[in-house]
Amino acid sequence: MSEICKNWSTWLKKTRFAYMDEVQIQQTLNWLLSVRNQVLGLADIKDGLKVADFGCGSGLLGFGVLEKFEDRVELIFSDKFQDCLDECQKILSNTECKSNVKFLQSDLADIKLENGYLDRAMTRSVLVHIKEKQPVFDELYRVLKDGGIYASFEPIISQNTRYYELVDSDNISCYNEFKNAEKEFMENPLDPLVNFTAESLDKNMENSGFSDVKVNLQKVKSEYVAHKDAILNWFITPPAPDQKTMKERFLAYFDEKKVDNFINEVVLNLKDKMIKIESNVALIKAVK
Ligand SMILES: C[S@@+](CC[C@H](N)C(=O)[O-])C[C@H]1O[C@@H](n2cnc3c(N)ncnc32)[C@H](O)[C@@H]1O
Repeated sequence: MSEICKNWSTWLKKTRFAYMDEVQIQQTLNWLLSVRNQVLGLADIKDGLKVADFGCGSGLLGFGVLEKFEDRVELIFSDKFQDCLDECQKILSNTECKSNVKFLQSDLADIKLENGYLDRAMTRSVLVHIKEKQPVFDELYRVLKDGGIYASFEPIISQNTRYYELVDSDNISCYNEFKNAEKEFMENPLDPLVNFTAESLDKNMENSGFSDVKVNLQKVKSEYVAHKDAILNWFITPPAPDQKTMKERFLAYFDEKKVDNFINEVVLNLKDKMIKIESNVALIKAVK
């Protein structure tokens, strides 16, 4: 079992909640349930269909399907990493629903299913972790039946509010240097987290042959008081187990003393203030 594989379940269970208090954790869980419902709504699942939750992690989408359809659909939990499948298996063993569920360890760029096997394919926050998106859409297209639906939710991180937009430039030493560094690494074409937009996903799906492609970009605005610990955690919480923290990204440009000084100035500039953040997300539906 690889380190990344072990770390993905830890990241899903613990790391992603690291900088949140109880209220924020509950808000995030409620938000995840609403995202799940939106993706399931787009997938338009019906009794008797073959459905897959790809990059299932701890099974957010798949367990939503089971809650609604129990064994009236064939459900595949699929992930590149075995520990995520083990996690889903453990959760499943505590439910009544045992039949008609399969587990498939598979990379989305090389899905171990025959052509046209599935009626529905779903992902949530998986493409954002894969550098080359086009081969993934080609595979999703291949494993769907004609008329089959792909439904998904992806954060469009490249278009989110940046640090340099939040702070007051007069209060940050070397503001322009940090702004330029952030701009560069947030637009890095080799970084899976930021190397795509809603438009590029749309194009990828059309290239694969999907028709009726809908990528609904939503701008989510939030306002909250930024506390010191939360701000510090923005810099040291990895966005994925195999990805650099924000602090590590800045360390590629500046020495540690300079980065720590920048982080301190950001904290002093923002702490206990109301900040306004815009996050971008895409709800996706495409038909084969
Ligand atoms: C942010 S988690 C999302 C998990 C789950 N879909 C959810 O909504 O909670 C990303 C998932 O993508 C999986 N993943 C990353 N790269 C993958 C790949 N190339 N093929 C299949 N799964 C992958 C990870 O193992 C992890 O479970």
